[in-house]
Formats: sequence, structure tokens, C-alpha cells
Amino acid sequence: MPSAPSIRVYATRRFTQAVEQAMQARYAVTRNDADGVMEPEALARAAQGCEYLFVSVNQPVAAATIAALAPTLKVICTLSVGTDHVDLEAARRAGIKVLYTPDVLSEATAEIAMLLMLGVARRASEGDRMVRADVWPGWAPTQMLGQQLTGRRLGILGLGRIGKQVAQRAAPFGLQVHYHNRRPLPADEAMGAVYHATSDALLAHSDIFCITAPSAPELKSFLDARRIALLPRDAIVINVARGDMVDDDALIEALASRRLFGAGLDVYRGEPAMDPRYRTLDNVFLLPHLGSATVETRDAMGFLLLDGLKAIEEGRRPANQLV
Ligand code: DGY
Repeated sequence: MPSAPSIRVYATRRFTQAVEQAMQARYAVTRNDADGVMEPEALARAAQGCEYLFVSVNQPVAAATIAALAPTLKVICTLSVGTDHVDLEAARRAGIKVLYTPDVLSEATAEIAMLLMLGVARRASEGDRMVRADVWPGWAPTQMLGQQLTGRRLGILGLGRIGKQVAQRAAPFGLQVHYHNRRPLPADEAMGAVYHATSDALLAHSDIFCITAPSAPELKSFLDARRIALLPRDAIVINVARGDMVDDDALIEALASRRLFGAGLDVYRGEPAMDPRYRTLDNVFLLPHLGSATVETRDAMGFLLLDGLKAIEEGRRPANQLV
């Protein structure tokens, strides 16, 4: 008879069925059936004694939580590519490993970036609202005119894993891709995208400006009034990275004054809260952080974490170990 799993795992969220089954087959899992974000004290209490902790993108894992769990905790597994919610330095100091989920969500997130671009440029949510409200007066030559993507310049801030997937999808739509990274990519990786040595230069060449760079302290409130002023008139802003990279006051002002054509946002500062003024603007397309939200991707993210744990158990360092 197979022995009962002995490694104790605490899962702060529900995961896909396939991932939960695999977790349960291997570990003694306790989970937060409320499936919501936990207060630090509640998390420290509930996860006491666990060796592996599973969290996701909106669950803060602060130094105090790490210290409280450190006597037994060996690995923090975050179902996300972003890790700004985990105090990595505290984990490092405590000798606790951190696994995350790069690569496997890049394609799904790039699809959402394309959806936002099309949605804003072609005024999709505005049109949907008109039809649902039963106020569509019927087709007219000048009704709800949007912008065609073909021939426009797409500026990608951060041509990394997700940015490259966006660039690949943008080309068949006839978009000319521009980008800014700290350094230019080798030609075979840049896929013909035009490099700009500064983000200011990129902004000035972006009819559509898409943020895909990972959040970093130096990028907090990156898209502020000064930078928005560098964008061409009627530009579109897309954010699939993190909400705190945008200065909401500046973006809302530019949307309300129609200096910008529109914005497509999948992420918000302090989400699920957001600046309520966004809800009042017609030229903003709002999604609830759907970047990686497909069954295939969430399965792949979960299994990447489980594979990483297996590697650690076998004495190897997995590629998705950050700390
Ligand atoms: C991540 O993984 O960081 C994404 O924002 C969640 O889809």
C-alpha cells in the first residue's frame, strides 16, 4: 500500500482541478477553502508547520509572515511570473527557496494584450454597451469610428518573454513594432523590431504603447504626465504588467481630455480596487487581470511549480527557482 504523503503543504488559493489532484497525490495539503487573499496573521496561523507554501499574485508574503513560518518552511511557490508580492530578500535571508512561473503564461498574456489593443482601437466595449442598452440606432457611415491597427507603430516597453509574444502577434496585424530594453536584443530575437535606447524615444514613436516590463521599484508610476505628453496625440496605452507602473491621475486626465484615444488595462494599482474614475470613461477598456486566465495556462503554471518542487526534492535547482 502506498504510504500517505508526509510533506505538509499550505495552499492559500484553489488551483485548477488537475493541479489540485497532482498536489494532493504528492503532499499532505491543507488549503484555504475561502479561496481569497489572507491577512498576514491569518496566513501565519493557518500555514504554521507547513514546508511548502503555495500563493499567487495578490497574496502578500511579507518578512513577518516568512519569519513566522521559517521554522518549517522550505519553499514558497507563487503561481505567477510577477513576484512583487513576495519579500524575496526576507526569503533569501531565511534560507527559503522561491519558485515562480515564467514563460508558460507569456502566450496567454500576449493574447490579452492583443485583445486590449483591438478592444480600444475598435471601441469594442463601448459598442457592446450600446447594443446591450438597446440604444443602437442602426449602422451609420460615421458611427463609432475607431483606429485601424494596420500601419500603426506599437511601442513595447520590455521586449522580454511576454513582450516578444506580443510582438509576434502584432506583426500579422500590420503593426510596426518598436521597443525599449536596457540593451538591444540580438537581431534573431528582436524579430525586426526597432530599438530605442531610451523610453522617452520609444514613447515618441508609439501610436500604441504597451507595458509588458516586469514591475520594479524604478518603474513605479513610470507612465506619468511628462511621459504621456511624449506620446503622439490620439495614442493608445495598454498595460498588462502591473498597475503601479501607471500614474492614474495623469492617465485619467489624458483620457478624459481626449489627449489619448484610449487605454486598455488588465491590471490596477491596489487591485481589485481601482481608481473609480476609470469606470466613468468610455475610452478605456477594463479587464479584471485576465492575463494568464486560461485552463491550459493555469495548469501549466501549477505543474511548473510541482516540477520545480520535484527537482528540489531530488537535489537539483529548477530553472524557475528565483531564490
Ligand atoms: C503574473 O503571473 O504575475 C500575472 O500577473 C498573473 O497572471
